[in-house]
Amino acid sequence: MAETMQGLKRSSRCSEIELEAIGQELVLAGWCHKQRDLGGLIFITLRDRSGEIQLLIDESCPAEVREKAARVRGEFVIAARGVLQKRSAVNPNMKTGEVELKVSELRILSEAKTPPFYIEEESAANEALRLKYRYLDLRRPNMQHNLILRHQITKLARDFFDREGFLEIETPMLTKSTPEGARDYLVPSRVFPGRFFALPQSPQLFKQLLMLAGYDRYMQIARCFRDEDLRADRQPEFTQIDLEMAFVDIEEVIAVNEAFLQLLFREIKQVEMQLPLPRLTYAEAMRRYGSDKPDLRFGMELCDITTLVGDNEFKPFAAAAESGGSIRLICVPGGATMSRKEIDSLGEYVKTYRAQGLAWLTVETTPRGSILKFLSPDLIQAIYEKAGANQGDLLLIIADQDPVVLDALGALRCEVARRRDLIDPNDWRLLWVTEFPLLEYDDENGRYVAKHHPFTSPMDEDVELLTVQPDQVRAKAYDIILNGTELGGGSIRIHDQALQQTLFGILGFSQEQAWDRFGFLLEAFQYGVPPHGGLAYGLDRIVMLLTDSSSIRDVIAFPKVQTSACLMTNAPDSVDGQQLAELALAIQPEREGQVTHD
Ligand code: AMO
Repeated sequence: MAETMQGLKRSSRCSEIELEAIGQELVLAGWCHKQRDLGGLIFITLRDRSGEIQLLIDESCPAEVREKAARVRGEFVIAARGVLQKRSAVNPNMKTGEVELKVSELRILSEAKTPPFYIEEESAANEALRLKYRYLDLRRPNMQHNLILRHQITKLARDFFDREGFLEIETPMLTKSTPEGARDYLVPSRVFPGRFFALPQSPQLFKQLLMLAGYDRYMQIARCFRDEDLRADRQPEFTQIDLEMAFVDIEEVIAVNEAFLQLLFREIKQVEMQLPLPRLTYAEAMRRYGSDKPDLRFGMELCDITTLVGDNEFKPFAAAAESGGSIRLICVPGGATMSRKEIDSLGEYVKTYRAQGLAWLTVETTPRGSILKFLSPDLIQAIYEKAGANQGDLLLIIADQDPVVLDALGALRCEVARRRDLIDPNDWRLLWVTEFPLLEYDDENGRYVAKHHPFTSPMDEDVELLTVQPDQVRAKAYDIILNGTELGGGSIRIHDQALQQTLFGILGFSQEQAWDRFGFLLEAFQYGVPPHGGLAYGLDRIVMLLTDSSSIRDVIAFPKVQTSACLMTNAPDSVDGQQLAELALAIQPEREGQVTHD
């Protein structure tokens, strides 16, 4: 039978022990990380969330202790009473490597089956197995470190925004869908058959209503749900640090958030961020980096050579220039040493970004390249100069329509930096990207859609363009970027009813449709709205970057996999007919079971 803690009070966690405690009696409890039985001598490495400590059981220990210690296996839960003593063989790799607990009482609190994988810092086990047994995976020290840091970041955010006068207010989980652009998770209503709640994609409209309701500054650690394709930095269920402020324009929102980010980096990374943070407009970010979330840890900015080579005999160049596209390049420092094979594989890489090809040219006394025969020595020199190239560099060139060129070169820039190890992992580059376009043209549906969301305010100086050149209108929207990842985004909202109606019109909502979807907001806006704006950070993304994790799953206790399923609980799962009937739902038999968990 499992023993209990009766009469035994844990004195501290395993590695939260002071050296002064040597000679004192302690009670420690945790999991057996490793047991080594050397005959008369048994060592047990005891592990809890703080770390590990060595337990020593030798022949001078009571027979009962020796007998139990011999039975202990990996992942048994045990408690030990004993005296802390100096270790004869110091282990410099262990925080408690100078001490050990000589055990006088041992209890086996719970036995354990042999786990399907070894609980260690870097697990070699495949992720599906680790996610099935997530509670074991969560015992690994780096997972514990990640979740502890997540707690610290969340607390730091709560405390900071509290000091700044933000009130933490919860908003509903069962709500009406808000237009964030992803698919909604729907929850059927039993009381209203055929009707559905939507889980919030974000608390966007509620936080705006809280401003209207006079709460002035709002924050929430808010769970959001989006049924979208997953990537390494996306989960269907994720958490935002969500903020909204009344009586502000862009500068106030940016200022309070810069102070938060400075504190975050100081406390969590011991890095002092210089304020104000750099800013780039969307247009400049796209032109220089081919991305609206540029990674500033390395150079290789894009360079437009359309005016130099737009009339070149090389067909793709001429075709791009003639059809209004462009020819741009990046200059890879020292890249001339790259092999043909490496360059070809970059060519393959850009194809995934719809680029049709990748031209290249080395910067050498006798240049080499894929388009040499189309380039005169003078033209080559002119290209070198425009690119600011040095001897030994490599120019990688793409010609196409602008969106393709920018997207492909922007991605290539990052890929080359990764492959050539140009990224310093201890470099933290935060920046704001501002002046996003308000609208995007959706070719598929032949209409404009909001780039951020339909409540984002246009820039004052662009309002007049709304009805004549909607695609030229810039928004009071801003994203905060860290090392090439969008950490958060927000905007100043429209607080003028007439402007909101105009925008709905441009977005193709009739008056009636707008009232049908957002009637509660439009109605509310008739009752006095302060100018307001805000921002939401992806908390999971912040933690992912600050823990150097390569996947967002490594910073979420119970994450979902690519199919949005949970391998541990097997959710989503079927429900019985009775439950469906209550909800007035029926499943199309031909679709049921199309996708399984395995
Ligand atoms: P947005 O949609 O840009 O803005 O989201 C804000 C931030 O949330 C994070 N994020 C995600 N993280 C993990 N998985 C996802 N699927 C996911 N989707 C988004 C990102 C992103 O920058 N209501 C607005 C904010 C505002 O205007 O105040 C909003 O939700 O880090």
